[in-house]
Amino acid sequence: MNFERIDPILSFKELSQVIALDHNFMTYPWSEKQWKSIEEKNYALYIAKSGPILAFALYQLSPAESLAHLLKIVVAPTQQGVVSSSFFAMQKNSLSSLGLSRIYLEVSEKNLRAQQFYKKMGFELLRVAKNYYTDGSQALMMQLHL
Ligand SMILES: CC(C)(COP(=O)(O)OP(=O)(O)OC[C@H]1O[C@@H](n2cnc3c(N)ncnc32)[C@H](O)[C@@H]1OP(=O)(O)O)[C@@H](O)C(=O)NCCC(=O)NCCS
Repeated sequence: MNFERIDPILSFKELSQVIALDHNFMTYPWSEKQWKSIEEKNYALYIAKSGPILAFALYQLSPAESLAHLLKIVVAPTQQGVVSSSFFAMQKNSLSSLGLSRIYLEVSEKNLRAQQFYKKMGFELLRVAKNYYTDGSQALMMQLHL
């Protein structure tokens, strides 16, 4: 399995595979328009690839706050429990080398597997936001210092 940072993002030939993972496995996937409106310099996209792309993670970067906001992470079901920890470790190293010192994310109260993964990776709960998602469910806001 190869891990890579994709830069630039929008001209990446295999972006459609990333978007397909988003559509297949995220509860609230982005539209094509949302993907196309990414401002390259403020985002970091990571992929895991073994032939096809089997995982990705997308961050919005706020260098002024030394902050990386994890917007999306998807690992294909065949690779869950296999590559996620090493894939995330690569992302941490890369973000740290970009000068960032903190990762922030929101996760649904219903997504117990993702919550467990983030806890295992060292994320701490910051606060809970009520009525955060369109179905009225809560979000857990979590962060990790790099
Ligand atoms: C979130 C995601 C990237 C995590 O990667 P993963 O490979 O599944 O994570 P891991 O298997 O390493 O860790 C998940 C942990 O949750 C545990 N787990 C699995 N199902 C669970 C459940 N229903 N309730 C609680 N814990 C659960 C696993 O046992 C594992 O813990 P362990 O390593 O201590 O045994 C992956 O599940 C995924 O892509 N999910 C779909 C997209 C998604 O929800 N993304 C996150 C949006 S915020």
